Order: sequence, then structure tokens, then C-alpha cells
Amino acid sequence: MVMTAEGLRARCARRMSLTPRGFADCSWLRQVFLEVPREEFVPDRVWWPARGDGARYPLIDRNEKPRAWLKAVYEPGAALITQIDDGTVAPTGPADGAFTSSISSPGVVIELLRHLAPEPGERILEIGTGSGYTTALLAHRAGAACVVTVEIDPCLAARAERRLRAVGLDPEIVTGDGEQGYARGAPYGRILSTASVRRIPRAWLRQLKPGGVLVTPLDSPFGYDLLVHLTGDGHGGASGRAVAQVEFMRVRGQRAQRPYTELGWPAELNTTQWRDLRVRADQSGQHITAATAEAACNW
Ligand SMILES: C[S@@+](CC[C@H](N)C(=O)[O-])C[C@H]1O[C@@H](n2cnc3c(N)ncnc32)[C@H](O)[C@@H]1O
Repeated sequence: MVMTAEGLRARCARRMSLTPRGFADCSWLRQVFLEVPREEFVPDRVWWPARGDGARYPLIDRNEKPRAWLKAVYEPGAALITQIDDGTVAPTGPADGAFTSSISSPGVVIELLRHLAPEPGERILEIGTGSGYTTALLAHRAGAACVVTVEIDPCLAARAERRLRAVGLDPEIVTGDGEQGYARGAPYGRILSTASVRRIPRAWLRQLKPGGVLVTPLDSPFGYDLLVHLTGDGHGGASGRAVAQVEFMRVRGQRAQRPYTELGWPAELNTTQWRDLRVRADQSGQHITAATAEAACNW
């Protein structure tokens, strides 16, 4: 039986309802996932993120294999690669190189939004527009007029704008360096980055409302990113904790590696205890501590 996009979306939602990292008790999140046609945001040619023949990433071409393409669009755990090496590799066949843009997997996007917990009518800043899919989900939840999204790559920003307008959504799309946030739209009740950082940009902290929530993947010494959830203090600082293990591409300006001790990480860490990490970031830098160490300091 050939399933339609709607059928595959509903099946994907059912599968994501069964996992602890899925919708949990967020009925609004399930609702917006079902409302937004993900297939409208996925380019016709994308790379599958696991190496195939010749150790290259296989291309899935909608025109050649429409069913395989649509199935990939609604695979809960699959991110689809939309850009390699900052767009210097044309999507004409299997390829190799560094992933520089993707449409994150449905499962990961749902996890980000569950932690972000945006409310209707709340001002939201997204960094890393990519395909525009997460922007569309945010717009369905908060209202498009409340959403600003920043993408550094002009071609990606222009494509996302066309796709968002095609589905009738009109959020503000800014081409620029998202590390600067977007001061004109501040303050924000929610800030979400869909690219990972080594150092939480000061501008995001300044542009966050008191009590506002910042969710971003943060590079860690563990070999994966940690999704951190921080609450703004209204004085250019925010604090919170790590809530999940994730893997994202880095913001362009923070690709170069730096010693973790320069980035506020303690010299010794127990890699199994990432859940105990507490994160504080302010205008002077960021400080990551294990909850047990923190307790010992306060004692
Ligand atoms: C994982 S993709 C975003 C996925 C996107 N949210 C979606 O739903 O398709 C990360 C994006 O961050 C963008 N990016 C990287 N550095 C950036 C920066 N400094 N400012 C804004 N966007 C940036 C990349 O070009 C890429 O499109």
C-alpha cells in the first residue's frame, strides 16, 4: 500500500508517541507536528547521513525515487543532509565532506521544542533557519508574527523564506550571524538555537527576557553535544542544566576547537553524569559544574 504524506506523518507521530523523548504529555506539540507538512521543507535532493557505497553519503532524489524520499522525510530518527561543505558540493550524486546544513530529524526537533515549551503569543528567536521546518512549527505554536529566525547562509535563508511563504507562514527571516541574535526583535521569551555552540553567545543572554528560556546544543568534552536549558535572570545571565544528549553542526564562527577548560568546563568530569551538570552563562563567560561539586561549594 502506498502511504500519503499525511499517512506517513500520522504514523511518524504515533511512533514518536511511544518513546520517552517524544511528545510526552505535550498535546500541543503533537498537534503542531500533525499540522505542518514537513515534506514542503525538504529539498528534492538530500543526502542520507550514513555512508553507503564507496564510503560516500548516498543522494535521495525525489524525482527518481519519490516513495523512498517521502519515507525518509518521515523517518523519526533521520536527519537529512541538505548542504555539504557550505554549499560547494552540488547535490548531483553521492558525496563526502562536512555536513553544514540539515533538516533535523523529527524526533530531535520534537525534543528541542518540548524543552523550549513556547507559549502562544510569545516572542521567539530561532538561530539556524536551515530548511525552515522548525520555524514553521514555532510559527504554528506561537503565531508567525512572534517568530524571528536567523540563518547565516543567504541561499538557505532565501529557500526557507520561499517554503514558509508557500505554506502561508510569514515569520521574520533574517540573513546574518545568529551569534549576534537579533536585537531589533528583543527581548525574547524563548531563544532556540538549532546549531551548536562551544560558548554561549553574550548577545543571546542580553536579548532574553527575565524568566525567558534559552535552549541550545552545547559542545561538550564527552564527544557529543549536550542540550542545555537555561532561564534568564534579566541581568544578562542565565542558568540551568543539561537535559539531553544531541548532535548538531556547529555555528560557523565556532568551528575551531578550543580547550574545554577555557570554555568554563571543569578539568575532570565523570562522563556518565552529564545529567548532573549545572550551566551558568553571563557576560563574563560560562561556568559548568557538577551538581555534587556545586553542593560541596555551598556547604
Ligand atoms: C541543523 S541546521 C538547522 C535545522 C533547521 N532548524 C531546520 O529545521 O531545518 C543548522 C543551521 O545553522 C546555520 N548556521 C550555522 N551558523 C550560523 C550562524 N552563526 N547564524 C545563523 N545560522 C547559522 C547553518 O547554515 C544551518 O542551516
